[in-house]
Amino acid sequence: TQDLLQHLPLRNKKILITAGPTYEAIDPVRFIGNHSSGKMGFELAREAAKLGAEVVLVCGPTHLKTENDSIRLIRVVSAGEMYEAVHAEYEGANVVIAAAAVADYKPKIVAAHKLKKQENSLNIELEPTRDILASLGALKQHQKLVGFALETDNELENARGKLERKNLDFIVLNSLKDEGAGFKSDTNKISIVTRDEVKRFDLKTKTEVARDILNEVILLLDEKN
Ligand code: CTP
Ligand code: CA
Repeated sequence: TQDLLQHLPLRNKKILITAGPTYEAIDPVRFIGNHSSGKMGFELAREAAKLGAEVVLVCGPTHLKTENDSIRLIRVVSAGEMYEAVHAEYEGANVVIAAAAVADYKPKIVAAHKLKKQENSLNIELEPTRDILASLGALKQHQKLVGFALETDNELENARGKLERKNLDFIVLNSLKDEGAGFKSDTNKISIVTRDEVKRFDLKTKTEVARDILNEVILLLDEKN
């Protein structure tokens, strides 16, 4: 059993993971969304469970499913709902990994009835959503916080800016420049960025990428105890 336990480096750890897109309602039948598949978050959840963690997976609209007793799935739709669900689970969490592609804006007014088409152009006023990860960063105590950054230019500078602003322990930089990386694919090419270090990884399957990220989490958890 000693041997078995060695392979469960995340046992007794609660890991909170966000995944997928969020949908922001325009009216009862329409929304503003994005192409996030949720795959990266689901792979992280699966791998973390394999490593012995108790996983809470808060995900926006996706067709992905999980049947794993160690993964508690909380399905949400909007950024506001994701914010509430994540905050309700934050206190007992040891690690948060924010892989969700949260909408930055939502319609200021949600129409109660389906909008009818008109001759003239339509303007929908948008207001910012709350930044979930930044709010966790501001409340951070013992928790380790991991974010994702999807950048097209000034990648490193932008990623480091987010790392600081959101009070993260590290940020996973997703290169959109590379083929086979990003939202819908099964592969990803990442760099793990801390305040004083950048670790670059090859193009890999999202399962392998999840393992690389969790390895870094395990190192981080080992540091202080
Ligand atoms: N994030 C979040 N809540 C939001 C927006 C983003 O929790 N309302 C999280 C994402 O899950 C990700 C990280 O913050 O882990 C960075 O998201 P990203 O969209 O790259 O950064 P933003 O701060 O939204 O800045 P921008 O979109 O302008 O690059
Ligand atoms: Ca954003």
